Amino acid sequence: MSMIYGKRIRLRGAERSDLEKFVAWVNDPEVTAGLTLFLPMSSVDEEKWFEIAMQKPQAEKPLVIDMKDGTDWRLIGNSSFFDFDWMARAAEVGIMIGEKTIWNQGYGTEVMTLLLRHGFETLNLNRVYLRVYADNKRAIRTYEKAGFVHEGRMRQAVYKNGKYNDVLFMSVLSEEWNARNEES
Ligand SMILES: CC(C)(COP(=O)(O)OP(=O)(O)OC[C@H]1O[C@@H](n2cnc3c(N)ncnc32)[C@H](O)[C@@H]1OP(=O)(O)O)[C@@H](O)C(=O)NCCC(=O)NCCS
Repeated sequence: MSMIYGKRIRLRGAERSDLEKFVAWVNDPEVTAGLTLFLPMSSVDEEKWFEIAMQKPQAEKPLVIDMKDGTDWRLIGNSSFFDFDWMARAAEVGIMIGEKTIWNQGYGTEVMTLLLRHGFETLNLNRVYLRVYADNKRAIRTYEKAGFVHEGRMRQAVYKNGKYNDVLFMSVLSEEWNARNEES
């Protein structure tokens, strides 16, 4: 699989040299507030995650996010498709932009749009879905901008920081992706 290019970002395979940044991000409470990953992670845990990730089929491997920085590329996050159901042609998607200084500048929306293009136009999925904590307003707004539709709520499905939180389901169907792209 070759790299996937957007206007300001690209998605590429993960390298061992990315792990140092990943481990810093997955230990940052502000980044992990919206993630299922929230117990402390060591570099050994991260190595183990990497080894397991590299054994996965190509379509399920992590897609590392780089942003254009002048003539260079700068690592800003990680994403992936997972839990593929090839019969229903459905998969879940996840995203983490660990570089907090660039939040709210449209990068998340651009990454999610690129992931959807990859999901529908390369992996030939029919349904791409995700789960998001109800209090993760930035993420919800990002997904709405990328075209995700709200489809359900699991009440008090997660317990974190001393309180329960609802988990929302959102999805995009291939027909919605096509309609959206015909409009523009
Ligand atoms: C969620 C995430 C991917 C979003 O990326 P991003 O680059 O900040 O997203 P964008 O800039 O494209 O869009 C963010 C939108 O949320 C809005 N927003 C930010 N904080 C908000 C809040 N508290 N309430 C409502 N909207 C908010 C922004 O204004 C922007 O919308 P706008 O363009 O209409 O102004 C990124 O912040 C991230 O990775 N966070 C940490 C990990 C995480 O939570 N991942 C998602 C798990 S489900």
